[in-house]
Amino acid sequence: MNVGLKTQIWPAGEAAVTAAARSLAAGGLVAFPTETVYGLGADATNPAAIARLYEAKGRPSFNPLIAHVWDIEAGLRIGRFDAQATALAEAFWPGPLTLVLPKAGNCAVADLATAGLDTVAIRVPAHPIARAILRAFGGPVVAPSANLSGHVSPTTAAHVQSDLAGRIDLIVDGGAVEVGVESTIVGCFEAPMLLRPGGLPRGEIERVLGRALMQPPVDPDGDSGAPLAPGMLASHYAPRTRVRLDAVNVRHGEALLAFGSDALPGVDAATAVMNLSAHRDLTEAAANLFGYLRALDARGARAIAVMPVPHHGLGEAINDRLRRAAVGRE
Ligand code: TXA
Ligand code: MG
Repeated sequence: MNVGLKTQIWPAGEAAVTAAARSLAAGGLVAFPTETVYGLGADATNPAAIARLYEAKGRPSFNPLIAHVWDIEAGLRIGRFDAQATALAEAFWPGPLTLVLPKAGNCAVADLATAGLDTVAIRVPAHPIARAILRAFGGPVVAPSANLSGHVSPTTAAHVQSDLAGRIDLIVDGGAVEVGVESTIVGCFEAPMLLRPGGLPRGEIERVLGRALMQPPVDPDGDSGAPLAPGMLASHYAPRTRVRLDAVNVRHGEALLAFGSDALPGVDAATAVMNLSAHRDLTEAAANLFGYLRALDARGARAIAVMPVPHHGLGEAINDRLRRAAVGRE
């Protein structure tokens, strides 16, 4: 295990970017902000570094990682873009969209990072700190969300610290992230497929493609068959406290994750209450989601009751994460 490392925490800035690039080049593990969630970066071409990364996260080794690159040009060196992939990259990069593509012939991303698949997930992040680190480092950086496997994704440096201190080399603190849920993942197969809803709403992608996105052939929450994206494993986002969805009241001993301004019966006796968005703003709710789940998880409640959240726009990703949080962990 990496446990016992001295994890440095640097405020975002030129010195931190230089230290991050140097650490990555030396095979180090560096957590940094992206616009979606904090990522835990490693040199995508360095299998030893990637092995340390899986170890630090406690991540099952069959779970492939996203290669983050500085721009489309760098993406072209690792993935084969068809016309639709090119259209999506030009429309949404830099931004919260990941494309799964066939690997390029000379793809430098280590097999360990792609879990042996002949496809590679690529993303060009928009956050200025992520971009500065990618530019200074100069190559692809794999970066899963910077949490222990099975925990919720981190939206602040403090979340990263509480999961990974002592296990990684450096945390670059760039404050709270903007989007709050992970990137949307589209598989660029014959028919483009929505592999994971996320920070870029489906409708915007479909508008550029001029067609509807396919659904994955295997229901990731079903118990039949292998999940298409192993990261969609049902337990991926589970807090320790039981989560009860679509609550219309608050039961004895429960904490409440609210949405909107309706007062539920029993709310006065709730262990704790946090409101994703009193004004029913789904962007605000997404940004608050993981932080609030973590905070309520720490309150020792019998369960976290969650009010219904609409399914349109970013609501699809929010409901997807909530559903995973509600599935019991083994
Ligand atoms: O917003 C994000 O995407 C964040 C930030 C840090 O960039 N990263 C992130 O990475 O969410 P991670 O590792 O937590 O999730 C990556 C997802 C997993 O569900 C994984 O299975 C899927 O991407 N994935 C990676 N490569 C794939 C591939 N070749 N085919 C299908 N799914 C893939
Ligand atoms: Mg993750």
